[in-house]
Amino acid sequence: HLEAQRCVWGKDEVVNSWVKSNPFAHKGSNGRIGVIAGSQQMPGAAALSASAAIRGGAGLTTVGTVSTAIQTVATHVKEAMYTAFSEQSGLIAPTEEELFAFYEGKAAIAIGPGIGRSTRIKAMIAHAIEHYTGILILDADALVYVSELHDEVKKRRSPLVLTPHIGEMAHLANESVDVVKQYRFTIAETYAQTYQAHIILKGPHTIVANPNGGMTVNHSGNAGLAKGGSGDVLTGIVTALVARQPLETALSTAVFLHGHAADLLINQGFSINSLTPSDLIEGLAEAYKLCE
Ligand code: APR
Ligand code: MG
Repeated sequence: HLEAQRCVWGKDEVVNSWVKSNPFAHKGSNGRIGVIAGSQQMPGAAALSASAAIRGGAGLTTVGTVSTAIQTVATHVKEAMYTAFSEQSGLIAPTEEELFAFYEGKAAIAIGPGIGRSTRIKAMIAHAIEHYTGILILDADALVYVSELHDEVKKRRSPLVLTPHIGEMAHLANESVDVVKQYRFTIAETYAQTYQAHIILKGPHTIVANPNGGMTVNHSGNAGLAKGGSGDVLTGIVTALVARQPLETALSTAVFLHGHAADLLINQGFSINSLTPSDLIEGLAEAYKLCE
């Protein structure tokens, strides 16, 4: 019974579940999304997630970051809009007003890549869990605080997507890394059901576990993805897709396409060692052909 639910989400599933986009689509109907990412020290994380979201099909992408990162990020990501949040010591420290303004009209918001850690960051995560009514995706440093906010998570009524790697999952579930490695299906499944959250447990053969008990496993991707920034790219793809496709299929499909883009690049002659997250974003252009 459990094995049947752990279905492989491969090419056929991606193609068969894909909801074709309306030929009369406009930028608004293609999904208004937000990416809260980056800091003075890590502006690149915001650039990677935002470009991946744009390449991933988001209609309108707004990046919320520190004002010092906007110049740099905007040079690389020309299609995005920008919100400069209040900041403290090089990290964003948004006020409640800034957060409510950012939530407005967005179908999905990702928070995490390169944001760093502080009490103000924790307060922002708590605020988003409690007040943002669209699809909330938490990644990287945003995940650090989730285990201290489990009561808020349980009260949340709108979709919550968490994208931990093994170490982040260990922290979320209060287990050791070794235990998570050994029992990753059970741990992802139990966590998803207990906290009614969608879990993307990353690594080779990423698992997607949904609150209703459904699970999928991915086999695309290669060791070229084992480089800082690949996770930021996945977060962007996930955010774009959940705004345009049914939630659960969007998650599994995002994971597949992320790995598929890496596989296509290797087939085209890129070397595993030199593959970069930026290459991966370019590679999405071909990977998405599968769905058209
Ligand atoms: N095969 C297939 N996929 C892989 C492989 C592999 N060998 N290695 C990594 N991946 C994929 C994962 O499935 C995931 O989608 O690459 C992505 C890596 O995401 P993260 O682990 O979140 O890595 P990232 O955030 O890009 O960089 C590491 O995380 O622990 C922090 O601070 C640390 O800066 C570091 C960052
Ligand atoms: Mg990461």
